Amino acid sequence: MKEKILNFLACPECGGMFDLKVAAMEDLEIKDGCLSCKNCGKAFPIKDFIPRFVDTDKYVDSFSFEWNKFYDVQMDILNNTDESEKTFLWKTGWKPEDMKGKLILDVGVGAGRFADVVSRWGGEVVGIDLSFAVEAAYKNIGQRDNVHIIQADIFHLPFRKETFNLAYSIGVLHHTPDTKKAFQSVVPFLKKGGEFAVFIYGYGHYHYFSDIWRKITTKLPIRLMYLLSSVAVPLYYIHNIPFFGKAAQFLLPTANWPDRRWRWLDTFDWYTPKYQWKHTWPEVFKWYKEERFTNIELYDIDKESSLCQICMRGKKN
Ligand SMILES: C[S@@+](CC[C@H](N)C(=O)[O-])C[C@H]1O[C@@H](n2cnc3c(N)ncnc32)[C@H](O)[C@@H]1O
Repeated sequence: MKEKILNFLACPECGGMFDLKVAAMEDLEIKDGCLSCKNCGKAFPIKDFIPRFVDTDKYVDSFSFEWNKFYDVQMDILNNTDESEKTFLWKTGWKPEDMKGKLILDVGVGAGRFADVVSRWGGEVVGIDLSFAVEAAYKNIGQRDNVHIIQADIFHLPFRKETFNLAYSIGVLHHTPDTKKAFQSVVPFLKKGGEFAVFIYGYGHYHYFSDIWRKITTKLPIRLMYLLSSVAVPLYYIHNIPFFGKAAQFLLPTANWPDRRWRWLDTFDWYTPKYQWKHTWPEVFKWYKEERFTNIELYDIDKESSLCQICMRGKKN
């Protein structure tokens, strides 16, 4: 943790400012210590370079496992592709020049694939996550001067109001108990005139069978699901057989990325999270309107997106 993060932190309980006690430093990073609220006295530990505003990873243990197992798979800097950079462009519509000199909140940072892009594009990024994915994110990018990684819950964010110029949440809000409430929880921390971009699951025809499978898979032990998800590695070749492959994919949908570890990761990511809500774009549009956002736009529109994925961005007034 970098001391300068105190400029934007506030107690998630009462909004008070923090006193910082440092127990151990390594280079310019605070390794261990404590943040105590000057107002209500509540204390939060800094452990292994990360401030911790939650005691457990609650319902996101599958993500704690996933992002530490597959910490490198989707990181452009580790897989020598620009896949995450392209995905960020499509899903948010933001370009490198939109990031420069801005303070940006990554809501549900995972292993840090998009925070990596934003920080390379010149933004100062604060990545929060409820899960122990934060360990992976810190390992991947946490020591950069313009990156801050925090373990915190979307519903109790530890920031001062109207702090961030931009915020984004890619593939996260639908994995909380209440997608709309999660969306609303972020808004107070955006500056007026700031923008919020989200990617939320929509409905797709292939969900019919995966929703049935999920009734079982979400109850199985995580390590077993890790092994079972590897079925995506050989199934790829079957799914690519004309006609028969499409039927097989419909009955047992698995990720179809050319990279074998990427499809293993994405299949695990589909079948294990406790919550996986799906929405429609008019529904998400309404959430933006209710929060009085303007300039609301849809991104990543192709033949599939209006059904399967909702990428939307708006400006706070
Ligand atoms: C599918 S992952 C996406 C991670 C990253 N945005 C990406 O695209 O690589 C969803 C993430 O949301 C996080 N998450 C779910 N509920 C959360 C909450 N209440 N507060 C913070 N993070 C949460 C999970 O821990 C997980 O890392």
